[in-house]
Amino acid sequence: MAWRNQGLTVGLVPTMGYFHNGHTSLIDMARAQCDKLVVTLFVNPTQFGENEDLGNYPHDFDGDCTKAETHGADLLFAPAPDAMYAPDHATWVTVPTLGKHLCGASRPIHFQGVCTVVTKLFNLVQPTKAVFGQKDWQQLAILKRMVRDLNMPIEIIGHPIVREADGLALSSRNAYMTDEERAAAPAIRQDLLKLADKVKNGERDSAAAKQWLEKEYSSTLPMGIVDYIELVTPDSIEPVSTISSSVLAAVAIHVGKARLLDNILIEV
Ligand code: PAJ
Repeated sequence: MAWRNQGLTVGLVPTMGYFHNGHTSLIDMARAQCDKLVVTLFVNPTQFGENEDLGNYPHDFDGDCTKAETHGADLLFAPAPDAMYAPDHATWVTVPTLGKHLCGASRPIHFQGVCTVVTKLFNLVQPTKAVFGQKDWQQLAILKRMVRDLNMPIEIIGHPIVREADGLALSSRNAYMTDEERAAAPAIRQDLLKLADKVKNGERDSAAAKQWLEKEYSSTLPMGIVDYIELVTPDSIEPVSTISSSVLAAVAIHVGKARLLDNILIEV
């Protein structure tokens, strides 16, 4: 707040920690665009369902502090859960329409938890801009809509997906995979690229495209268990039946203990 009163711009990068190059790329982007930079590290309990990995979420607090500092953060805010949520916390922010499909279908309370904690972080930090990754495309679309609908004076910036050399999207949860699973996981991206080619070459039937991708994964990633394969409108996250304009192809696939997300924006 003192920074804003001095006329400085403040960038915010909210995270749950265990930083990889995806997180640090977001930090670099915010650093380049703002006078002051706040990174938050909070494994937000309200966005995890009962049988999810809240208790085992990977962490490396010392490593994260070093990375945040090296990448130019002025402040790393890492509150304890009871500092963020009163025992009788009762207020929730939700964007129900955009949260109906994709991750919202398999994780019903997830986006309500995300919107609520991000609103709290926005109120605490009062940033000028906040950066989020396109790996969590639905999260980014929901937060853009939340900020617009609630007149929050914050610019939301999307950062492209940061990948390993073999194309696998970086994720803190990649650490859950065995070597064998990790070796097969790049198929997620490779098959999405093939799907994009099919659509660019004229496939307009969304159901046929999804069926093709599911079949493809069953041979390229036999240990994968598909949570969802969807083609949706990029901004409002509504399923598409006939592809007539740009679509987002988004997948979530369980590979061993890891639930992996990826997506591709297909411009037609
Ligand atoms: P977390 O999963 O830690 O991710 C923090 C930010 O990093 C998110 O904006 C996410 O989209 C981005 N990110 C993760 N992997 C990425 C990759 N490979 N390429 C580009 N960006 C990537 O997302 C959350 O935390 C939480 O839901 C949060 C927004 C912090 C609210 O609790």
